[in-house]
Amino acid sequence: MSEALFSLRGVVKRFEEREVLNLERLDLQAGLITVVEGPNGAGKTTLLSILALITPPDHGRLFFDGHEISHSGKQLTAWRRQITLVAQQAYLFESSVEKNVAYGLRLRGLARAEREQRVAQALELVGLGGFGPRRARQLSGGEMQRVALARALVLRPRALLLDEPFANLDPASSQVFERVLAELPGQGCTVVLVSHALEQAHRLAQKLVYLRQGRLAPQAGQ
Ligand SMILES: Nc1ncnc2c1ncn2[C@@H]1O[C@H](COP(=O)(O)OP(=O)(O)OP(=O)(O)O)[C@@H](O)[C@H]1O
Ligand SMILES: [Mg+2]
Repeated sequence: MSEALFSLRGVVKRFEEREVLNLERLDLQAGLITVVEGPNGAGKTTLLSILALITPPDHGRLFFDGHEISHSGKQLTAWRRQITLVAQQAYLFESSVEKNVAYGLRLRGLARAEREQRVAQALELVGLGGFGPRRARQLSGGEMQRVALARALVLRPRALLLDEPFANLDPASSQVFERVLAELPGQGCTVVLVSHALEQAHRLAQKLVYLRQGRLAPQAGQ
């Protein structure tokens, strides 16, 4: 039996009285790629934000790696550092590509030589070798998205959460993303991916979760 890296029990999220998420029971297995699908407004981004430990649920219990998460606990930063979210809209700082990618490693206090090596590796991996010195905000939308992926990969998180990672990518970049993501479970990284790019998402998915109006649905369209 494989273990769940994330477990949600009775998790409810409301925005101004309106319930946008209500998940009685959801387990996301370690070392797998789980794809979350559902129409606009189904609660997918809200779910990722809860899994990233950014948004606290209003009700229910959330477990990460067997530990119950408390949003007021001292452990929260340590748990958060094991989980990386790549948002729907990449937010890059007004600096070079390499500084953007190195940011999380600096926060974690890695030595400069190791930082530089890991940043160069991650940029190569997403097909942006040599982009290090360029201004991040002057890149194209798809290039920025690739920088955002490199910035996440460089951290080697236990869990990587991606919100619509294929949205602005050309077919070649999509293929690069797909290949990079497919290799992550083998490196011990658990992936949760929200995507409307169904064909690609289905190729990658080792498990599929459908959301409709904030609830788990048995299958697409129901
Ligand atoms: N900060 C917020 N304040 C109020 N309502 C919100 C907030 N964030 C999300 N919502 C509402 O919660 C619902 C779910 O939003 P969410 O962004 O999770 O949907 P989604 O499944 O990611 O949709 P999409 O496919 O369009 O990205 C929507 O109806 C949205 O209006
Ligand atoms: Mg969304």
